Amino acid sequence: MSEAVWSKLKALKTPSLTQLFEADPARLDIFATRFDLGDEESSSGILFDWSKTHLDAAHVAAFGELAQGMGFDARRAALFAGDIVNTTEGRAAEHMAQRGVGKDESVMLAAENHHRMAAIVEAIHRGAMGEVKHLIHIGIGGSALGPALAIDALARDGAMVDVHVVSNIDGCALEQAFAACDPATTMVAVASKTFTTIETMTNAESALTWLRESGVADPYGRVVALTAAPAKAVEWGVDETRILPFSESVGGRYSLWSSIGFPIAMALGWPDFAEFLDGAAAMDMHFRDTDGLANLPLRAAFGDQLYTRLRGCQTRGVFAYDERLALLPDYLQQLEMESNGKSVKVDGSPVDGPTAPITWGGVGTDAQHAVFQLLHQGTNLVPVDFIASIAPGDDLDPAHHRILLSNCFAQGAALMAGKASDDAARAYPGDRPSATILLDDVTPATFGALLAFHEHRTFCNAVLMGINPFDQFGVELGKEIAKQIEQGDVQFDPSTQALLALAGIA
Ligand code: F6P
Repeated sequence: MSEAVWSKLKALKTPSLTQLFEADPARLDIFATRFDLGDEESSSGILFDWSKTHLDAAHVAAFGELAQGMGFDARRAALFAGDIVNTTEGRAAEHMAQRGVGKDESVMLAAENHHRMAAIVEAIHRGAMGEVKHLIHIGIGGSALGPALAIDALARDGAMVDVHVVSNIDGCALEQAFAACDPATTMVAVASKTFTTIETMTNAESALTWLRESGVADPYGRVVALTAAPAKAVEWGVDETRILPFSESVGGRYSLWSSIGFPIAMALGWPDFAEFLDGAAAMDMHFRDTDGLANLPLRAAFGDQLYTRLRGCQTRGVFAYDERLALLPDYLQQLEMESNGKSVKVDGSPVDGPTAPITWGGVGTDAQHAVFQLLHQGTNLVPVDFIASIAPGDDLDPAHHRILLSNCFAQGAALMAGKASDDAARAYPGDRPSATILLDDVTPATFGALLAFHEHRTFCNAVLMGINPFDQFGVELGKEIAKQIEQGDVQFDPSTQALLALAGIA
């Protein structure tokens, strides 16, 4: 069935972007859609403009057929019902329950955990753990990228607590945090779903040593554990009253909504964290209740599939024209590449085409002066997402934000229109696609909706390719080999052996 639809898709005409706009005066109305959040008093929203992509009515119809053939409705329903959608690991994927959407029992459990987390956050803010000026949040991957992004995006105007997210095992990262913190007023959050990740546990041990050596009488008393394995945290030495658990059914890269979001709530205060969850929930309900092209994550996935599978694009670019969202490409890299960088389908059979492209990107306008040459004139076709905010994040002369946005929109226009020239070196081929996501402002609610949109877009892509986005076995082999090296009992290939000898490890 899907083979037939792919053949149909491959046979479709491929008008240029300019031709698509000329052929359909209503194109903007169809492909640029505002997503409204908030209430009458404080309306806010996000524009999702997919009009500068090559999607047209024929593609949309065929991709709709593909979605149907791949069981999109049933897979989406199973996701929201809390069924075992992560079949290889025998788990549900219930990050939406953290936002209040999903199976009743899971929503209730998440609400209970959040209730306790809110109480702890507010108690610490009120001084229950003495003066807390700094928080060193130790975690890696999904236990770090989301918190780092959210705090950078939302707490620039002054955080309630100065948060340092430390992920790398390279001691330089932890030393940098130590240098910025006063041990007498520092708390440590150890964030690990499994509570076994070697980087996190090693960093956590070193943070305890630092506290102890700096004269803190009870270092463990300064630690909060954020984990789906509370028993392991107790075993490690954290008092049960300071363990914030979350459910096994929340995947690492989807976990910032759970207690892994503790540093976000510490930095912003609970009311803003709750708004962040609500913004995501609004996108969940849109995704759950909307069909076809009007479904924003599904529409975006149609575009992604068009470029990955029909046009052979091996990468996709994400450029945030907003300093507050500078870490978004890093976060999306994990979300998309760890979820959909797979070679087998749900049933274990080989995939029938390329899966996740490489997500990369940066911040505008900086990236314009570094990598955009390739986007405009290189031989790789790179579909690009531009993400910007109408409201500025700064209080300087409005010229700053005006120039920032003008440049953002100029890039999309230039990629599409191109420019002919008799001089080949100065010609721009044009017809290069981009999507623009334009937030009214970067608020907890719009930011929550933006991240939930990307989670659902990733899920839609997985469904269209027939894969399971919720496991990540590909990260295990390297970890196992590193462990073997630590244990010093294995012979490797001559190159690896020589490197180990040079570094004095074996
Ligand atoms: O190695 C990959 C991974 O398992 C990610 O999926 C996860 O976000 C990260 O490691 C951290 O895992 P944990 O939260 O269990 O420490």
